[in-house]
Amino acid sequence: MKIDGKPYRTIWELPGQVGVEVIDQTKLPHAFATVQLTSMDDAARAIRDMTIRGAPLIGATAAYGMAMALRDDASDEHLDRAHDLLLETRPTAVNLRWALKRICDAVRNRPRAERFDAAWREAAKIADEDVEVCRRIGMHGLGILREAYEKKSARGETGPLNVLTHCNAGWLACVDWGTALAPIYMAHDAGIPIHVWVDETRPRNQGASLTAFELGGHGVDHAIVVDNAGGHLMQHGKVDVCIVGTDRVTANGDVANKIGTYLKALAAHDNAVPFYVALPSSTIDWNMASGASIEIEERSAAEVTKMTGRLPDGTVATVDIAAPGSGAVNPGFDVTPARLVTAFVTERGVGSGRAGLMKLFPEESKAAKPGWLVGYDYGKAGAGYAFVLANSKEEIAKKLPSLIIFDQRPTNLLENYYEAIVNKLSFDIDHVPATWMKIGTEKPV
Ligand code: MRU
Repeated sequence: MKIDGKPYRTIWELPGQVGVEVIDQTKLPHAFATVQLTSMDDAARAIRDMTIRGAPLIGATAAYGMAMALRDDASDEHLDRAHDLLLETRPTAVNLRWALKRICDAVRNRPRAERFDAAWREAAKIADEDVEVCRRIGMHGLGILREAYEKKSARGETGPLNVLTHCNAGWLACVDWGTALAPIYMAHDAGIPIHVWVDETRPRNQGASLTAFELGGHGVDHAIVVDNAGGHLMQHGKVDVCIVGTDRVTANGDVANKIGTYLKALAAHDNAVPFYVALPSSTIDWNMASGASIEIEERSAAEVTKMTGRLPDGTVATVDIAAPGSGAVNPGFDVTPARLVTAFVTERGVGSGRAGLMKLFPEESKAAKPGWLVGYDYGKAGAGYAFVLANSKEEIAKKLPSLIIFDQRPTNLLENYYEAIVNKLSFDIDHVPATWMKIGTEKPV
């Protein structure tokens, strides 16, 4: 993407030295500044204090951080230490763990002397791949936006396609292009009239500060709205499509994204507005059964009780917006249940629910071990198995009562299981990975 006509990525290598430079996102939109990261500690700090943020960019930065750690000490112990230190910088976005694993896998079986070079090459690959993956997400999402606009026009409705997005899932959240915003850029470039409602995204205002900055830079028509406006806009027919990014999608299709996403998905569902989630496959956590297990980052109360902005004299200041002494709670993310998501837009195409993701990424879904198998014998009605996606027996126990209506008639049991598992969990019974069977075969429930 371009800033003042100059092409930028969010992270680039420093010429002639071991280090990277990143755009300091805490300064936007009031100032454009960059920061050099030349050690693992620099990378960890940049992720933790949100100098850089957004799931894919967190992954790429952490990968370079690992490489820099190996420059200083290529031992197994240091590799593990660097992995653990970087992993704990931010808990919710799974791309972080994915990128760290890629570096570990790339170096672990190599002699120490080769480890830094191998890690650096892998980090560069992760960054380059992210650009291409996001470009592909953009192409697939463009198809959705084009069709939505054509349908709108065919209904005789005038005006641009109105798209609502939350937080920042643009090029600033990735290495380039973005996830949710890539289709918007491509639609704009393709001449589709498009207007974007930008949720301000309290408390850190990634929508107002970053998404609006990006869209403005690209010439995309947009308006910032307060987080609570989305439902009202949808009720009044002013939103044609919602599209958001995500920090983690679990094996059943639940979506963790910036706090407030769930409320938008509920409002979209209530108003029959399609709700899309755009993501690279590195954001899918095949090993986590459902969103109930996602660790939700708790951020500081000060982000809620204070706001930062530019004063009339141009200086940037942080001010209190709450009465002294008021406490605040600040969960950074929420989980939107799979049933509220119309479809996922990935680098391989568009798919609905868990079954859609499994069809797009069969090799990954088959290798995963996200769940427990609960065996069930239907007696004369035929033997069968019920599959429950859960990470523990406790989770199964919690899920079963809400999913299955027990009934003593075997035929109904079969139907009930089918309804519960296939429909409610969007479970594709024909694509059960063989590995699941070995994970935990429980007695009949
Ligand atoms: O806390 P952040 O700014 O790192 O969170 C990022 C988000 O939640 C984004 O909205 C996004 O959808 C995920 S990154 C493409």
